[in-house]
Amino acid sequence: MDDSLKRDAARALAQRAAREHRLWVRPAGGIGEHVRPPQPATRRPRDERPDPAGAVERPRAAPAGGAAGLREREGDTPAGGDTGESFPRGAPEPEYGIPIAGQLEDPFPAYTDIAAFERAICNCRKCPLGQTRQKFVFGVGDPHADLVLIGEAPGAEEDRLGEPFVGRAGKLLDQILAAVDLKRGEGVYICNILKCRPPQNRDPLPSEVSECEPHLVKQLQLLEPKLIVALGRVAAQVLLRTSDSLSRMRGKLHDYRGVPLMVTYHPAALLRNPQWKRPTWEDVQMMKKTLDDARGG
Ligand code: URA
Ligand code: URA
Repeated sequence: MDDSLKRDAARALAQRAAREHRLWVRPAGGIGEHVRPPQPATRRPRDERPDPAGAVERPRAAPAGGAAGLREREGDTPAGGDTGESFPRGAPEPEYGIPIAGQLEDPFPAYTDIAAFERAICNCRKCPLGQTRQKFVFGVGDPHADLVLIGEAPGAEEDRLGEPFVGRAGKLLDQILAAVDLKRGEGVYICNILKCRPPQNRDPLPSEVSECEPHLVKQLQLLEPKLIVALGRVAAQVLLRTSDSLSRMRGKLHDYRGVPLMVTYHPAALLRNPQWKRPTWEDVQMMKKTLDDARGG
């Protein structure tokens, strides 16, 4: 191809990407078209909580300055959010590179059916979130899904309704899926690392993750997906046992217990950080292609 042809082809591709991108990046309705200036430290609903970790490279093992990353995120929290207690200032950011409780091959060998497994664990009180939750949020979707999306933990709406990603971030997630002809419940399953809402949407504690992850391990064993997508830094760090930043983890295929795993931005982060929509669109295309390849079509 000569250079002008290449340029035209590149331009056509870019235009197409921009068109498709607009399908779910709706500036109307104010889906975070500007980045907010720093605000006082309160936690806001999980749906609206951004996490700048993807944009800011943090040291691998956050030293005493783990607090710096925390302040960064708190600093970005707008007023008018959740006015409950804030995550203690200066507390170290949770480290998720930890083993789960009992690295069992099959943590719940008695169950071979996902609905029966849900019934078995839905009254879980293994961690204190069992006392504060309204609803246990197991997960939703096609029990034969080949794509599983994994978020961090239920927020307020999810806690109220018992279904993951039903708030603002969830609506955006549905739009993102629709842009590549995917739909919640049709070949797609959605769940979270934690099945219960942390109070004030604080980050999951390592102890909560450790108690809850066996549920997810079993869930994935029953679902047998062809591709897992971790939504946001926390889910990705937990699953990959790393403290890498989101920007380092995205854009490639990882392995989670033998299943290909990709990482992308959390839809709640996109609501507030429009500059992450473009890379997310790249991830979503990679997700779709990987899935189509795995489906053999
Ligand atoms: N954010 C998450 O990580 N999960 C949900 O279910 C909702 C918001
Ligand atoms: N950090 C997150 O937790 N999520 C993102 O999407 C980006 C950075």
